[in-house]
Amino acid sequence: MSEPLVIRCRENGPLLVSGAVRILDHQGNEFPIPAGKDTVALCRCGHSKNKPFCDGSHRSSGFQAAELAKA
Ligand code: FES
Repeated sequence: MSEPLVIRCRENGPLLVSGAVRILDHQGNEFPIPAGKDTVALCRCGHSKNKPFCDGSHRSSGFQAAELAKA
């Protein structure tokens, strides 16, 4: 059995997706992921100009998200 996909919530930042993944738009078309990248940052602040990917805009927008998983 393969390892599960890992998605990590960065504090005040994007969702980091580690492992093999395909990202599709609402029509089923695939977004290109740069070759050799094993982690993809997905915007969750809504301010990226390159959605669904994070472009760092969360920093200037003051996005805050620091939720913790319950142990
Ligand atoms: S989370 Fe980085 S630009 Fe939105």
